[in-house]
Parts: sequence; structure tokens; C-alpha cells
Amino acid sequence: MDFRELVKVRRAVRNFEDRVVPMSLVKDIITDSCEAPSGSNRQPWSFIVITNKNVMKSISDESKKNILKEMEHNPSTSLSGYKAILKDPGFNVFYNAPCLVYIAGPKEVRSVAVDCALAASYFMLSAADRGLGTCWVDLGSAITDPALRTEIGLPEDHVIVGTIILGYPVEIPEKPPRNEPNILKIVP
Ligand SMILES: Cc1cc2nc3c(=O)[nH]c(=O)nc-3n(C[C@H](O)[C@H](O)[C@H](O)COP(=O)(O)O)c2cc1C
Repeated sequence: MDFRELVKVRRAVRNFEDRVVPMSLVKDIITDSCEAPSGSNRQPWSFIVITNKNVMKSISDESKKNILKEMEHNPSTSLSGYKAILKDPGFNVFYNAPCLVYIAGPKEVRSVAVDCALAASYFMLSAADRGLGTCWVDLGSAITDPALRTEIGLPEDHVIVGTIILGYPVEIPEKPPRNEPNILKIVP
């Protein structure tokens, strides 16, 4: 696929076929992600792959609970528009995805957020190139429960940056509208 076609095909997918993604394919996509640039070539990213739907449900419940708690302290948070769905016990933040991948790195690395976000971007493009769909699901990143963090193998000193669901898309959604590029100034 040529690059311009690929960026058009990469959409946030929230509806997946009931079909397992082979682990070899997940690993190939992760390998592509590691081609991303990073500050001082530090490559601070690590990956956690979860295919267990019960674990995904537990994480969804935990993250919803924590975000709602956060909203009580900060009602004007940018997530406040999601309050109603977060309160809905039937809403799983990971939709029906067969696979969830966390991209995380050590908190103390200054560029960890940028580096892991770049790896996530490569991840989403690689997946699209291979006929898979992804969606970055920030609503699924608020995991504080130590037992759950241990269960998924998230080191204590790590911060989750990217939370990406992965699967075979039922369909590729329409592109949501994009603003015209906001070029503040061209300084000749
Ligand atoms: C940092 C970030 C957080 C996001 N969090 C969520 C989320 O929690 N739930 C969700 O359904 N989509 C989430 N999305 C997906 C966006 O809604 C989606 O990328 C956006 O609407 C543009 O659509 P497109 O990806 O098809 O271009 C997130 C995307 C990004 C980059």
C-alpha cells in the first residue's frame, strides 16, 4: 500500500470480527513499532499484549471507575463528556476487540510520552497496512489497582502511554472531518 493510501485506510476502528489475531502478526506489528524514532535513540517503549477478554473487562471496569473518581475532583476535565457512558455498566471501553496492546515506558525517561506515542503511531499504521484495525483507547489507561497492574505485568516505575485495541475490522469507518492545516506562519 502506498503511504497516502495507508494514512487514509488507518481509521479508529470500534467494531471487530470475532476472530483471533495470530500472535506472530501482533509481534510483527510490534517489531514495526520499534522502527519509530526516539529521543537519543533510547527506545524506552515496552509492550503488553492482552487477549483475555475477562482481563480486558476487569481493566475496563477499573479504568472507568478511576476516571469517574478523577471527575469528582476535577469536574471540568476534558473527559467530562464521557461521564454518562462511563457510568453505564454495560459499556466496555475496549468494545469487542480481540486484542489489547499497552505501550509503556519508564516514568523517569523525559521523552517517554513522545517516544511511546510515536511507537503507537507506527503500530497503528503497520496494523492498517496488514489489513487490521486499531483504536487508541485512552479511557482504558487508568489502571491503579496494584493487583491488576501485577497481573498484566506492568512494572511499578512504568507509565502507560498508548492503549491500542487491535483486530480485524467489520468495516473501515468514514473519515471524521479534518480541519484545514493551521500553519501559523511561513517565515521565508
Ligand atoms: C490520545 C487518543 C485517545 C483516544 N481515546 C479514545 C477512547 O478512549 N475511546 C475511543 O473510542 N476512541 C479514542 N480515540 C480515537 C479518536 O476518537 C479518533 O482517533 C479520532 O476520532 C479520529 O478518528 P480517526 O482515528 O479515524 O482519524 C483516541 C485517540 C487518541 C489519539
